[in-house]
Amino acid sequence: MKKITIAVDGYSSTGKSTIAKQLAKALEYVYVDTGAMYRAVTLFAMQGGFIDADTFKVQAFLKVLPTIRLKFVYNEALGFAEMHLNGKNVEKEIRTMEVSRLVSKIAAISEVRQLLVAQQQKMGKDKGIVMDGRDIGTVVFPDAELKLFMTASPEKRATRRYKELLERGDKVQYEEVLKNVQERDHIDSTRKDSPLTKATDAIVFDNSDMGLDEQFDRVYDYAKRII
Ligand code: C5P
Repeated sequence: MKKITIAVDGYSSTGKSTIAKQLAKALEYVYVDTGAMYRAVTLFAMQGGFIDADTFKVQAFLKVLPTIRLKFVYNEALGFAEMHLNGKNVEKEIRTMEVSRLVSKIAAISEVRQLLVAQQQKMGKDKGIVMDGRDIGTVVFPDAELKLFMTASPEKRATRRYKELLERGDKVQYEEVLKNVQERDHIDSTRKDSPLTKATDAIVFDNSDMGLDEQFDRVYDYAKRII
């Protein structure tokens, strides 16, 4: 079977990772969640005391940035790879609201993007990959054979994310989640370096009123037409 590169970009909490994971499984491709990498760098900055709600010691942070080690480790039982930061599984910690509040500030830094984009390009050099993020079809793999751009109303997205957080036991308010989704979209779309934008050749996929099965069938069909 022909191996291609599939880029899944879009706004926060549009279900990119769910669909990308399903697609990778069905095609026996590698799945990479690039948001997890930006989240892990954010956790690293938080743990080092370089960033909190009020302060951001950018220069000091950039000095230690090259020491960071990120690795996806496949978890057989879960059926997907978990993020490890400097040898420690941080999959749960990177999904908290605290990290969500700060991640877009970290992701706007060019040095961070250069480091992570290089790693992402290496992971996808042999194709046979589904990668989700914000700049995959525009910057990481501009030549990807299939590009999807996912969107849904902010309220639908916040509701999904709110349910996910509650299921994980996080005590959050819906309003807070909605605000975070909107803030991240704003920072991600307006930053100077690789802003979130639809690649000209991406297929727009609005899943506000679409169930998971229908989404998967459509996306799988797009992929099969190329492969
Ligand atoms: O995908 P997720 O919502 O986990 O991503 C968290 C944040 O990481 C995004 O809001 C964005 O700021 C950043 N990100 C990015 N580029 C990517 C993936 C994520 O800037 N390719």
